[in-house]
Amino acid sequence: MNTQRNATLTVDGKNIDLPVYSGSIGPEVIDIRQLYAKTGMFTFDPGFMSTAACKSAITYIDGDAGVLLYRGYPIEQLAQNCDFLEVAFLILKGELPNAREKEEFDTIIKRHTMVHEQLIRFYSGFRRDAHPMAVLVGVVGALSAFYHDAMDISDEYHRTVSAHRLIAKLPNIVAMAYKYGRGEPFMYPRNDLSYTANFMRMMFGNPCEDYVPNPVLVRALDRILILHADHEQNASTSTVRLAGSSGANPFACISAGIACLWGPAHGGANEACLQMLEEIGDVSRVGEYIKRAKDKNDSFKLMGFGHRVYKNFDPRAKLMRETCHEVLNELGLHDDRLFKLAVALEKIALEDDYFVSKKLYPNVDFYSGIVQRALGIPTQLFTGIFALARTVGWIAQWNEMISDPEQKIGRPRQLFTGAEQRNVPPMDKR
Ligand code: SDX
Repeated sequence: MNTQRNATLTVDGKNIDLPVYSGSIGPEVIDIRQLYAKTGMFTFDPGFMSTAACKSAITYIDGDAGVLLYRGYPIEQLAQNCDFLEVAFLILKGELPNAREKEEFDTIIKRHTMVHEQLIRFYSGFRRDAHPMAVLVGVVGALSAFYHDAMDISDEYHRTVSAHRLIAKLPNIVAMAYKYGRGEPFMYPRNDLSYTANFMRMMFGNPCEDYVPNPVLVRALDRILILHADHEQNASTSTVRLAGSSGANPFACISAGIACLWGPAHGGANEACLQMLEEIGDVSRVGEYIKRAKDKNDSFKLMGFGHRVYKNFDPRAKLMRETCHEVLNELGLHDDRLFKLAVALEKIALEDDYFVSKKLYPNVDFYSGIVQRALGIPTQLFTGIFALARTVGWIAQWNEMISDPEQKIGRPRQLFTGAEQRNVPPMDKR
């Protein structure tokens, strides 16, 4: 960070100079760490609309230009030229792997895909109809009961092993949540398959016959994982960072991130978006729902639309729509009812003054539900797939924070609006 100048704040006639830092690209920041000491005042920014909570070199978003870079590489180029593990290597280590590094990393991840055999018993503690995200929160958190041989977070090697374990085991854990819900036997991972093909086999294979993943569908799902891998300081990543700032182990932190991602305003939007499309049912009813979305007295929001940062198109939504086309064509579903409804809904919304004036565009979740449904993934598991992919970003951001010598426990303050000090009255006076 370079200090180029100060910002001067005048409070009650007193001038306070606060350093302004610039990064490599993007908005500058005003360092307010001394504000309370110098003024006795806090800043007030619920929802962190104007707050940079950390410095990071991992992902850059330009919401106005619709730009998303992982370690400087545009998401469009990564989705086109790399597979998910190459992107995971990039996000974790800062550079794309060469051929030798890729082979080494793929092998390391493959060698960590199995889970402790006793962890499998955790699943039988859940109801069969438990939401998969409830299972993931529990099982991922429980990993810290099995892998304490590498949980010294001050040890870089331990952090690396835990990162590899999480990236490798999440597909297995997600697939087991799916199988458990269906009462089908768990499938062990196969080391002769690619990361995403292995996941699809653990999801859709069974012990009675061979399962040969469709390469077009594998590539499509692999691209979906790339699009979801990281996204700057979003709510779930900020949750992982805040949990990690206390020194909590990485498995507990990722479990906290999964819990936050589950919310329908965040990663749960893809599941909610598909349910919304099912509820709308037909293009003739789109106008009714657009009207509801605009009604201040109606809590209904158009799921898959809008974004805190993207005030133009979400580059991931465009790539997701292309992937959707590819998958539906490969499966002969190009007339898919919901896809046609989504395309019509997107067109109508983007021509509506309300959405245009509020800069509400489709986000990554708008098409991801349709393509995942076409891949055979049940609606309730959409956010689990999102969590599988985002584990890479979460653990990279966690590692970046833990490695930062300036790292401190996160402890925001508040504007207190409650009762001033008062005395406890005796029971007969209450
Ligand atoms: C993800 O942060 C990330 O990077 C997240 C994510 C990632 O990769 O990690 O990109 C993943 O979470 C994508 C977002 C998925 N969520 C949804 O699709 C749910 C629907 N969208 C909204 O809930 C909303 O757009 C948010 C939560 C995404 C963003 O909310 P903000 O930034 O707090 O904006 P806001 O709610 O203040 O909305 C601004 C205005 C409001 O109207 P006014 O109060 O100004 O009159 O736009 C309206 C909102 O009511 N609005 C919508 C709307 N989204 C915002 N109105 C109708 N439908 C919508 N979808």
